[in-house]
Amino acid sequence: MKFSFAKPSLPSSGVLAVTVAADRSLGPIGRDLDQKTGGALARAMAAARFTGKKDETLTLLAPAGTELDRILLVGIGKGADLTDLVLQAAGGAIAVQLDKAADEAALLVELPEEAKLSPAAASAEIAFGAQLRSYKFDKYRTNDKKSDKKDPKPSLRKLTLLVEDDGAAKAAFKKLDTLADAIRFTRDLVSEPANVIYPESLAEKTKDLEQFGVEVEILDQKKLKKLGMGALLGVAQGSACEPRVVVMRWNGNPDADDKRPVAFIGKGVTFDSGGISIKGAAGMEDMKWDMGGSATVIGTMYALAARKAKVNAVGIVGLVENMPSGTAQRPGDIVTSASGQTIEVINTDAEGRLVLADCLWYAQDAYKPKLMIDLATLTGAVIVALGHEHAGLFANDDDLAMNLTAAGLKVGQPVWRMPLGDGYDKEIDSPAADMKNTGSGGGAGSIVGAQFLKRFVNDVPWAHIDIAGVAWAKKDGATVPKGATAFGVRLLDRFVAEYHEA
Ligand code: BES
Ligand code: MN
Ligand code: ZN
Repeated sequence: MKFSFAKPSLPSSGVLAVTVAADRSLGPIGRDLDQKTGGALARAMAAARFTGKKDETLTLLAPAGTELDRILLVGIGKGADLTDLVLQAAGGAIAVQLDKAADEAALLVELPEEAKLSPAAASAEIAFGAQLRSYKFDKYRTNDKKSDKKDPKPSLRKLTLLVEDDGAAKAAFKKLDTLADAIRFTRDLVSEPANVIYPESLAEKTKDLEQFGVEVEILDQKKLKKLGMGALLGVAQGSACEPRVVVMRWNGNPDADDKRPVAFIGKGVTFDSGGISIKGAAGMEDMKWDMGGSATVIGTMYALAARKAKVNAVGIVGLVENMPSGTAQRPGDIVTSASGQTIEVINTDAEGRLVLADCLWYAQDAYKPKLMIDLATLTGAVIVALGHEHAGLFANDDDLAMNLTAAGLKVGQPVWRMPLGDGYDKEIDSPAADMKNTGSGGGAGSIVGAQFLKRFVNDVPWAHIDIAGVAWAKKDGATVPKGATAFGVRLLDRFVAEYHEA
């Protein structure tokens, strides 16, 4: 969607949205419109019991006294409670309501006096929310039966925000729109099916980041063998697709005293059939998004580089397909990881941890990062624990855990810390090898997965975010339509901005 910003004035025709604060309070221009329509706004609000709470909307059609086709009233709640998240959600609601109504529309942004944000900043947040909510992945729909060619349905393409300081609003939006681009890029990667996005093609897509100055290095199978990544290679060996590991580097703070990068590591299983420990057929199609962690890492690198973040960051993604075949790894196989530790593979469906083990080790060994954060759709068990509201957070460092928690709350991508401990670690001791890749039936599947990863982390502060419950949404949210969420991109971008940028 395209956004433009202009000085406020009442449009004489078309579709107009108007912000309304709690207790039906309109701004001066909104009141002017109410007068022009003979009080239609006030009467409609009363009739519909619309009070201007956040997330409320109300549509008036062809109101007398103006040539406007439609007025959309959008609640933003109390001025004192106004946050960027509330405004983004309002933007999301506007995008949904106007998309059904028109190709183009205007939005009058008027805030109550107590609001802590400026109208310009608020407008940018609203536009950002509208941009995020209007994401569609429909490239494979060649005949949309719902849309009649002779009488095509509208679809909102342009929104003009009417706000006094339109120049400042435009500048503020530009930054947010860059982040929205990174999120769109991430969502596209996750939405693509596994016949389109497989290790080699996903690796190729990371080269798009070179346009922002990211250095992209693709490690092929031969190189991975040389690095001794037996755990990752074992997962890949059943697939006709060769694995890849991609290293993305953004050196945005070359003069830093401490030049060590922050490292992001992502699970990129482009399809997880379970391997020989094959999954059931029901819902297996969901496992195209088992590369969600890698997409978040790629999207985060995109966001950081595109806004020229003053940080040194490295993103490492392990890309494999987990398939059953005559060459597939068997339950009981013992593999040697890049760290030298051996792993008995009890269940080939616990493959994400095998991929991450080698990537974490490599990140730590080759890049000496000041901290590491991995993201993975690692366990179904995290959905049992936290549902689809929070991602599971595990960390060996309290500051890192606190900072990630705080950043998540600020951007509406909450994480909830879960414990680690020696008792859980014992679960993965193996009589045959240094460890096994699943627990011994003691429950706590997400923690056991995290304990496994921890065995590949030395002294460096490390966090693991299990995004299995939040990478894909089954229902629409305020700024996230159903489908790929890009969970983690906003979180990590904010985490870097708040705690690791010069
Ligand atoms: N990719 C799955 C986890 C998953 C499940 C993600 C549901 C999203 C939705 C992972 O590779 C997996 O299969 N984990 C197993 C681990 C078990 C075998 C120890 C699981 O969660 O059942
Ligand atoms: Mn699996
Ligand atoms: Zn998986």
